Amino acid sequence: MTRSKIILCRSAALIAVLSSVAPAQTLRELAQKRGVLIGTAHSGRTSDTEYLDLMGREFNQVEAENATKFGPIHPAEDSYNFAPVDTMVEYAAAHKMRVRGHVFVWHNQNPKWITDGGLSPEQLAAALQKHIATVGGRYRGKIFAWDVVNEAFLDNGSLRDTVWLNKPGIGLNGTKYMEKSFRWAREADPDAKLFYNDYSAEGVNAKSDAIYEMAKDFKKRGVPIDGIGLQAHLRLSAAGNLASIEANIKRITELGLQVHITELDVRIPVDASGKASESDIEAQAKLYGAVASICLKYPLCTSIQTWGFTDKYSWIPRTYPGFGAALLLDRAFQPKPAYKALLDALAATK
Ligand code: G3I
Repeated sequence: MTRSKIILCRSAALIAVLSSVAPAQTLRELAQKRGVLIGTAHSGRTSDTEYLDLMGREFNQVEAENATKFGPIHPAEDSYNFAPVDTMVEYAAAHKMRVRGHVFVWHNQNPKWITDGGLSPEQLAAALQKHIATVGGRYRGKIFAWDVVNEAFLDNGSLRDTVWLNKPGIGLNGTKYMEKSFRWAREADPDAKLFYNDYSAEGVNAKSDAIYEMAKDFKKRGVPIDGIGLQAHLRLSAAGNLASIEANIKRITELGLQVHITELDVRIPVDASGKASESDIEAQAKLYGAVASICLKYPLCTSIQTWGFTDKYSWIPRTYPGFGAALLLDRAFQPKPAYKALLDALAATK
C-alpha cells in the first residue's frame, strides 16, 4: 500500500472512531430542539474527567445519585454535607444543565439520628420540616425540580410502613404526611417543581393506580404537586408493557401534571466478564427508544433521565448479580445501540 493510501485509510478509520464517539448531534442538542430535558444521575466521581466531559456534552440535566438524599446531605442533626452538592450545582451551571433534586422523604438512606434517635412524632415532624426548609432553601433557584417523596407505596397500592408514616411517623395518617411534605417543599422553594417518584409504577397497575388517585386528590385540593416521576428501572420484559406505560403517562398528563422519566435503565443478563449477548443489547436499544418515543408524544412528559450513563458506574451489578450492561455507554465510554436508539427517538419528527 502506498503512503498516501495508508494515510487515507488511517483518516477514514479515525473519522469512523470519532463519529462513533462524537455524533453529529448529541443527545442534549436533539433534546433541546424538542424542548425536553435529557438527564443523567451523577455518581459523584468528580476525579474522572472523561466521565464529567461526556456528561456535560450529552446531557442538559443532572441529578445526584446519592448526594442530595437525607443521610448523605444531613448526617447529623446539626451537620450538613453540602460540599458535594455545591460542586455538582457549579458543574451544572458551567455546563448549562438543569439540576433535579432527589429526595426529601424516603424510607431509605436516612441518617441514624432520624431512624434510631428515639424522636417523637412531633420532633420528627419538626426535623423533617427543617430539613426540607434548609436543603430546599439553600438550592432555591438552583435545583429546578425536587422528588419530594420517593417510593411511599408498595406494589399492591398500600402505603409502605416507614419512619415518616408510622414508625413512628410524623403524626399524620394516610397520605397526609406526604401532603404536609409537599407543602413544606413549596414553602422552601416556591418556584421548584414538586414530584412524587416511584418504581414499578410506569404502567397501569395497583401501585400506579394508588399514586394516580393521590395525585388527583392533591390536585383537587390544591396540594402543591407538579408531577410524577416514573423511575423506569426496566428489564427486557417491559417491551410487553409499553401500551400500559403509555396509558399511565396519558392519564397523569391529563390531570395537568408533568411526567419525568427519572431513573431509566434496562438491565440485561451478563457473563462473568460483564458481557451481554448481541440480541439482548439490540432488544435493550429498542426498549430505550420506545420508552423515549412514548414520552415525547406527550407535551407534559418533559424529562427523560437515565440512572447514570456508563456501565462503568451503575448500581445494577451490585444489586442484581448476573445482570448489568444497563446503560447507554459501555465501561470504556463507547456508545452502545441504546445510545443510538435514544438519539434516533429524539431526532424523529413529531
Ligand atoms: O457512601 C458510602 C461509602 O462511604 C461506603 O464506603 C460504601 C461501602 O459500601 O457505601 C457507600 O454508600 C453507598 C452509596 O450507594 C454510595 O455509593 C451505599 O452503600 C449504597 O447502598 C448506595 O446505593 C444507592 C442506592 O440507591 C441506595 O438505596 C445507589 O448508589 C443508588 O443508585 C440507588 O438509587 C436508587 C434511587 O435513589 C431510588 N430509586 C431506586 C434507585 C436504585 O436503587
